[in-house]
Amino acid sequence: HFKVREAPPLKGRRILVTSGPTHEPIDPVRYIANRSSGKQGHAIAAAAQAAGAEVVLVAGPVEVPDPRGVRVIHVESAREMIAAVEENLPVDAAVFAAAVADWRVADAAEQKIKKGADGAPALHLVENPDILASIARHHTLRPRLVVGFAAETERVVAHAREKLARKGCDWIVANDVSPATGIMGGDANTVHLVTAGGVEDWPSASKSEVARHLVARIAAELAGGNA
Ligand code: CTP
Ligand code: CA
Repeated sequence: HFKVREAPPLKGRRILVTSGPTHEPIDPVRYIANRSSGKQGHAIAAAAQAAGAEVVLVAGPVEVPDPRGVRVIHVESAREMIAAVEENLPVDAAVFAAAVADWRVADAAEQKIKKGADGAPALHLVENPDILASIARHHTLRPRLVVGFAAETERVVAHAREKLARKGCDWIVANDVSPATGIMGGDANTVHLVTAGGVEDWPSASKSEVARHLVARIAAELAGGNA
């Protein structure tokens, strides 16, 4: 008698995850950022590693520790994040959990801006590259499965459907991050998985459980198409 040991579900797969906020400098001491703890994105990277994948995590500035066994590339800005993502293609699946700042200051000051008689400075903002959309529409290196996130404060599923279409990704993990939910910065999450096939409402769970569930779905999807 012997037991057949099953291979880990993501063995031989390469998975890329973005996580955390980005910081966009105003001057050497000030920045624009989104709120993001990195807890959900880091948990996804850890779960993918535990499932046997080779994982690259591109992380903005966060307090949470690097997951064990994962290659972590630390970045600050959206432009650094997209460069790190592009350098690490090809992958089988990519999960874009980062809360990327939509805008950056066009010409960040090289020296600290001083308060002066002129009053508050006017910041000229320009749009950052959309990392998810650009990878989902990549002509040669599009991963087989591209997963985005949508953190919303109203009309969660409607906004997620719109993002799925606009960005050209395969799935959107959508959640309501209104302050009253406690999801932002907390350890639990309530998400909806939005795909071309429809919407699944997942039960509230810890961010690690949500991560394990998502990773299991990714493994099933990659196994389904084999290759
Ligand atoms: N995203 C990205 N690069 C950006 C902005 C967003 O990769 N510059 C990704 C996020 O990581 C997430 C998804 O796109 O997976 C949706 O982000 P979100 O901020 O909800 O979408 P936006 O298109 O920026 O729309 P909104 O006006 O709601 O901020
Ligand atoms: Ca945004």
